[in-house]
Amino acid sequence: MKSLMTALIITLAFLTASVQAVEVSEFTAALANAATRPDADKARDEGRKPAEVLGFLGIEEGMSVMDVMAAAGYYTEVLSMAVGPTGKVYMHNMPAALTGERGSRTAQAIAERLSGDRLANVERLEAEFGSLGIPTGSLDAALIALEIHELINAEDGQATVEFFTALHGALKSGGVLGVIEHAGDAGNDNAALHRGLETDVVAAAQAAGFTVADVSDVLRNPEDDLSKMVFDGSIRGKTDRYVLRLVKP
Ligand SMILES: C[S@@+](CC[C@H](N)C(=O)[O-])C[C@H]1O[C@@H](n2cnc3c(N)ncnc32)[C@H](O)[C@@H]1O
Repeated sequence: MKSLMTALIITLAFLTASVQAVEVSEFTAALANAATRPDADKARDEGRKPAEVLGFLGIEEGMSVMDVMAAAGYYTEVLSMAVGPTGKVYMHNMPAALTGERGSRTAQAIAERLSGDRLANVERLEAEFGSLGIPTGSLDAALIALEIHELINAEDGQATVEFFTALHGALKSGGVLGVIEHAGDAGNDNAALHRGLETDVVAAAQAAGFTVADVSDVLRNPEDDLSKMVFDGSIRGKTDRYVLRLVKP
């Protein structure tokens, strides 16, 4: 009996030690109090709930992760803090997202965010999905935030296949792909509204070999009737969003 108790205590101690996923209230405070984190990012936290999202995805210190289609990198910086100095964050963008007038504003914002090597565990990655150039099976997790509508609503479906194939290759077995997306309604023109149907995303993910481990409602908003463009002033920043935790088996 005594040895059974000892074994139980050792097992519990091991489990406690091995689970270091972001603790929501602690990480919320850390994000709010980070002296060098931009105020503009802090102002978005209430609507984006990054601690809840990373807790749901199981992001832990020391992980190797990717912020896919990161744009200016709100989530890159959040992930950088979460994985810490022993972890690594790839800040991915499609090369085309950094060209033209809008792209050069994004490039400037990225340069400011990374200036003076202030996020030392972040590596920029500007690449098409077919040539990410990172080792196969090396990522613990990846996140695509508010961008998958750009892929899923494209007419030929090729971009979606390339995205899921690339991430499936880059993730470790058991690795997590998080998807945050503006909810859509099947009867609407979701491409024009910048929304992505959850059923489309799930079907494409499953076709690529991912399983749906869980769906979070932490960013749901029933007051968004799904008919407006996501940048409409009445809903911007508080759209109805789903968060998927997809897993590479
Ligand atoms: C194209 S999205 C996503 C880029 C990047 N992956 C990220 O998560 O920041 C970036 C833009 O969406 C805006 N945004 C963030 N949350 C939003 C929401 N709930 N509704 C509409 N726009 C939102 C941001 O202000 C930003 O201009």
